Amino acid sequence: MNSNTLPDIHEQLVHARRSIRAYRSDPVPEALLQQLLRVARQAPSGGNLQPGHFTLVQGRLRDALTQALLADWQGGVPEKEDYSYFPRPMPMALRKRQVASAQALYGALGVAREDRAGRDAQFARNYRFFDAPVALVITIDSRFGAGGYMDLGMALHGLQLAAAARGLGSCAIGALASYPDTVRRVLGLPASEHIVCGMALGWPNEDAPVNRTQTTRAPLHEYYRVLGE
Ligand SMILES: Cc1cc2nc3c(=O)[nH]c(=O)nc-3n(C[C@H](O)[C@H](O)[C@H](O)COP(=O)(O)O)c2cc1C
Repeated sequence: MNSNTLPDIHEQLVHARRSIRAYRSDPVPEALLQQLLRVARQAPSGGNLQPGHFTLVQGRLRDALTQALLADWQGGVPEKEDYSYFPRPMPMALRKRQVASAQALYGALGVAREDRAGRDAQFARNYRFFDAPVALVITIDSRFGAGGYMDLGMALHGLQLAAAARGLGSCAIGALASYPDTVRRVLGLPASEHIVCGMALGWPNEDAPVNRTQTTRAPLHEYYRVLGE
C-alpha cells in the first residue's frame, strides 16, 4: 500500500459509514469487539487522560435494562440528564438539520410525519439497542467537563470506523442519556459515572429499509471560515 492509497481508504470509510439501526442476529465475537475498542482507545485526548468507559451489557441484564428504559419512556416521567446534549431552545438553523435527519429516517421507513405510532415504534427500538448482538453503555467520570466528552466523541468515531472497516454496523444511542439514574440502577453503577450514550453494534441487516437512511451534511461554507488575509 503506498502513501496515496491510505488516505483514499480512510476517506471512503468515513463517507461510507452510516448509522445502522437493524442487524442480523449473528454474534460478534468478543475478541473482535476488543479489537475495535483497541482502535477506539487510540483516539487523542487532552493530557492523554483517555476519558470514558465502554460496558458490554448482555443476557438477562440487557433485557432488564431495556425493560426499565421502556417503562420510563412509556411512563413519560423525565429524569434529570447527566449532561445537556442539544441546545435548549434549539436554534432554528439547527432545528432544520434535526428535522431533515428525522425525515431521512422516517422516510426510509415509510413512516408518515403524522404517524405518531410509527414514530414511537421506531423510537422504542433505541431502548432495545435496535436488537443488535452487541449493546454497549458508554460512561464517563462525572468530574469531566466538555473536554472529556470531546475526547470520548473521537473515540466513538474511531470505534464506528473500525467497525465499518470490518463490515460491521453501529449506531450511537443518545436516547439512553435521558434516563441516567435508571441505567445506573439497573447496571449497578455509581453516581460518579455519568451516562453518555449507548451503542448498538453488529452485522447490518442489508434488507432492512431503515438502513437505507441517508443523511446529508451542511455545506462547507457553513462549517468552515477563513479570517484574515
Ligand atoms: C452521540 C450520538 C448519539 C446518537 N443518538 C441516536 C439515538 O438515540 N437514536 C438514533 O436513532 N440515532 C442516534 N444517533 C445517530 C444520528 O442520528 C446520526 O449519526 C446522524 O443522523 C447522522 O447520520 P449517520 O450516522 O448515518 O451519518 C446518534 C449519534 C451520535 C453521534
